[in-house]
Order: sequence, then structure tokens, then C-alpha cells
Amino acid sequence: MKKKVLSAILSAVMVASLVAGCGEAAAPAPAAEPAAEPAAEAEAPEPAADVEEAAEEVAESEVAEEAAASGELITVGFAQVGHESDWRTASTKSAQDVFSEANGYELSFVDCDNDSAAQLEAVRAFIEQGVDYIIIDPIVSTGWDTVLTECDDAGIPVIVIDRTIDDSDKYVAWVGSDFEKEGKAAGEWLKAYAEKKGIKEINALIIQGTTGASAQIGRTNGFKAIADREGWNILDMQTGDFTEEGGQQVMESYCKSYEGKFNVVVCENDNEAFGAMTAMDNAGVKYGPGNDVVLISYDACKAALQNVLDGKISADFQCNPMGAPDVDNVIKTLASGGKPEASIIIPDNWYALEDAAVDFSVDGEPQTFTVVTADVVSSQLY
Ligand code: AHR
Repeated sequence: MKKKVLSAILSAVMVASLVAGCGEAAAPAPAAEPAAEPAAEAEAPEPAADVEEAAEEVAESEVAEEAAASGELITVGFAQVGHESDWRTASTKSAQDVFSEANGYELSFVDCDNDSAAQLEAVRAFIEQGVDYIIIDPIVSTGWDTVLTECDDAGIPVIVIDRTIDDSDKYVAWVGSDFEKEGKAAGEWLKAYAEKKGIKEINALIIQGTTGASAQIGRTNGFKAIADREGWNILDMQTGDFTEEGGQQVMESYCKSYEGKFNVVVCENDNEAFGAMTAMDNAGVKYGPGNDVVLISYDACKAALQNVLDGKISADFQCNPMGAPDVDNVIKTLASGGKPEASIIIPDNWYALEDAAVDFSVDGEPQTFTVVTADVVSSQLY
């Protein structure tokens, strides 16, 4: 699709020149090659910011429209983590909707089934295929530099979605949630809630996400930072691999090992919370607002919000799975010769019933709760 991109860019520059008016210097032409390298610095004087913006916007929409109209689609490979949770199902659907033929894309989608080796293989297959862009949701945050160097050598820009890559900087942008903030929010909320309810001692069990995933690392570290500061007891931390089955298994073993000794359960995603609820039901443990055990979860999917409404999950800290539209914007910016933001954080909401929606701050920033009602549940998108 390179020729089409070039012609779209040239039209955009011409439109921008018209917007600028006679006598104003024309916007420098972005590099003809899409994506891999940012546009080369031109000798001409800098154009006004609004002219640059106009050029960028026109170029972005023309790139997509021309690609779609000509049948020359932008080819994208997406190495998805797997299908372990409701959140993941929503993330996959969002990507498949956004990177559709109608939107000018041809998507090669690989479900890596939570297997890091399979994910590296998928990325290498995309290089072999010669796709225009590679999107990776990294199962774990390390072990990436070699394969990202291979993408770089092949001139294929990589965009990271959701989880982060922590041992390489060879990608153009990351779009996702702030996992450590989610963990801190859960901790700061628990402190404020315990004060309101007169809970004097915290004895917490944590069911972690997939070991080495940045969503696990960030949530564990964030919550633990508050726990350590407040002197809470963390009785145990084991992985439930972000699955319902994993959450149930870990909670069954916790119920035996820590019978009568815990009053907080933190599940690092909603599906683990569903499994933990089954295990606690079977063991006769009462949880949720007003009961013996405070149950905290992350993701805020529709089924979990229903459990908040039903008084089972005490508070749920969102992780928004709809990152694909931001990735689409990154690709359009690259395709039109622009330079996208390196890091795009998707804002999250925190959910609880009115009685539990207590005020708290994270790193000095006051937080607001969304009070869960039937309308809130039914309007949740995933
Ligand atoms: O990386 C995001 C996490 O992965 C979500 O919290 C979880 O549900 C998913 O499996």
C-alpha cells in the first residue's frame, strides 16, 4: 500500500498548503516510506501548529479511505495473549472490529494461548509474511529484545497493546492501562473502607495473575506498596493465571490452609474472582460488603459488576480492554508520516456500591468511584 500512502500524504500536504494560505511556508513533506522511521527534518521553516495538525488529520483519514477504496489494505499482525478471561474476549473483539476490511485493514490474528514461545513464533511469522505493522500484547514483560530487533531489521513497526514490554525499547508506541495505579487504588480504597467499617486488622490473601505479566507485576506491587506502608499481613500470594479455574483452585487451597484466618481476598482479575467465589461458597465463607471477607477484583467486566450489585464483590478496579481504537490512531499517524505518542494510557474507573464508595487518593490524586446500579451494569460494554 506504499504508493497509496504517498499519494494520500501528498494530497494532505497540498491541502495543508491551501489552509496555510499564500506566502506561508508549506508543511514539510513527510518521508515517503510509511511507518518505520519518523519523517525526516526538512530544511523549510516550521509550519504553524494548526497547519501541521490539519495535514496530519487529512492524511490519516485519506490513508484509511484510499486503502479501503483501492482494496489495498494495511496488513496487521496481532499476537494476542490468549482467551483466558472475559476481558481478553472483549479485547480480541475490539481489535477484530477495528482492524476490519471495512476500515482498510487485513488482520492476521494469532491467539497465543498464554504460551510465550508461541507468541514469539507468531511475531516471527508476521515478519516472514511482511505485514505492514505488528501489534503485540505481551504475555510476559521480558524476553523481547531479540525478536523486536528482528522486527526493526525488517522495517516493521511494532505497537504494544495492554501489557508492557520491560526489556526492550524497539517498539514505536504502547497503549494500555496503568496497572500499578490499579493496585495502589485497591490498597488505598481498602484502607479508607477498613477505617469506615472499623476493621482493625487486615489479613489478606492474593490470587495473582500470570507470573511475569506486567498486569500481575503492577497490581501486586501497587497493592503491596500500600500493604507494607500500613503494616497489613499478606498471608499468601499464588498465581491463578488470570483464569476462573486457576482462581478456584488457589482459593480452595487457601480455604483449607487459612481457614478462619483471612478477612481480605484480592483477585487480580474478575475471572479469578468468579473462581474464588465458587471456592468460598463451597467452603461456607461469606464475602462481600457486610460479610466476613472483603473481596477485591480488577477488570470491571459486566458479569463482575453484576456481582458488585449483588453484594458479592466489594470493589472492582477497572482495566479497560478497548485499546484497539488508540492503536488504529497510532497506525494512521505512522502511515501518514507522523510521530505518535510513545505511551498512551487508557483511563480506568473504580466501581463499588454506594456504601463502599469511600473517598481516597492515589499518590495524592483524589479518586472518584462509579457507584454500581443496574444501569451501570447494563451499560458496561464488556
Ligand atoms: O492484561 C490484562 C489482564 O489480562 C486482564 O486483567 C485480565 O483479565 C487478562 O487476562
